[in-house]
Amino acid sequence: MTDDGRPALTMEAVGVRYPGGTVALDGVTLSLAAGEFTAVVGPSGCGKSTLLRLAAGLLEPTAGTVTRAGEQLGFVFQDPTLLPWRSVRRNVELAGELTRVPARERRERAEDALRRVGLSHVADALPGTLSGGMRMRVSLARTLTGRPDLMLFDEPFGSVDEITRGRLGDDLQELFAADGFAGLLVTHSVAEAVYLSQRVLVMADRPGRLVGEVAVPLPYPRPPEVRFSPAFTELTSQVTALLQGDPAADRIEVAA
Ligand SMILES: Nc1ncnc2c1ncn2[C@@H]1O[C@H](COP(=O)(O)OP(=O)(O)OP(=O)(O)O)[C@@H](O)[C@H]1O
Ligand SMILES: [Mg+2]
Repeated sequence: MTDDGRPALTMEAVGVRYPGGTVALDGVTLSLAAGEFTAVVGPSGCGKSTLLRLAAGLLEPTAGTVTRAGEQLGFVFQDPTLLPWRSVRRNVELAGELTRVPARERRERAEDALRRVGLSHVADALPGTLSGGMRMRVSLARTLTGRPDLMLFDEPFGSVDEITRGRLGDDLQELFAADGFAGLLVTHSVAEAVYLSQRVLVMADRPGRLVGEVAVPLPYPRPPEVRFSPAFTELTSQVTALLQGDPAADRIEVAA
C-alpha cells in the first residue's frame, strides 16, 4: 500500500497516437490519490482502454508522462480469462506462480481471496462449470492475491446480467473498503460509476480527452437503496449532461 502521501497514479498532458495515426488520447492530466476509487465513463472508442493500458504500463504515451507510486498492480478485464483446465483454486494461484510467491503462501492467499469473494465451496471445480458471475469473481480473487495498491478495471461486469452485475458491484465496494487500494474503473454504466466511485471522470472522443469530472460525496458503505435517492439521481444527471456535452454540468452543487 502506498501511504506516503504520493498519488497512486498521475498523468501529465498525456497523449497517445497509435501507429495508424489515430489520436486515442490528447492532453490528459489526472491524479489518483492512494486509496481513491475513480470511475471513467465515455463513448465507445474515446480511449478508456488506452487510458488503462497506460496506467498499467502496458503502453507508453507518445506525449506527456505517466507515474505510478506503488509496485503492486491489479488488472481486471471484461473477460475473466481463466485457464479452463485448471481448477478455480489453481487459477487463483496462477498470479502468485507467475510472480514466484512460495507455494504455501500462494495457497493461503488463494484460499483467503476465494473466501472473500464467496467461492470457497467451488475451489476444486473447473471454470467451465461456473456461471458468468462466478467466473468474474474468480478473476477478481486472482487479482486480489497480488495485494494490489492500484486496481484497474476495464468494463469488468460488462458480460454479466443486471442482477449479478449489481451484486458484483457490492462485492467490489466491500473489497475496496477493506483493502483500501486505489481503483480506476472503466464502465459504460453511469449509475455503476456513481454508485461505486468517489469521483467520475467523463471523456469525449475524437480525440479522446477528459471533459469534466463529478465528485461523488456519498459515504461508504453505500446501501443499494442509495441508488434511489435524490442526491444519487442528481449526480447521475450531472455525469450524463457532461457526456452529452454540457460544460456547466459539473458545477452544480449536490447535497450528500
Ligand atoms: N492497438 C491499436 N492500434 C491502433 N488503433 C487503436 C489501437 N487500440 C485502440 N485504437 C484506437 O484508439 C481509439 C481508442 O480505443 P480504446 O480501445 O482505448 O477505446 P475505448 O474507449 O476503450 O472503447 P470501448 O468503449 O469500445 O471499449 C479507437 O479509435 C481505437 O480504434
Ligand atoms: Mg475499451
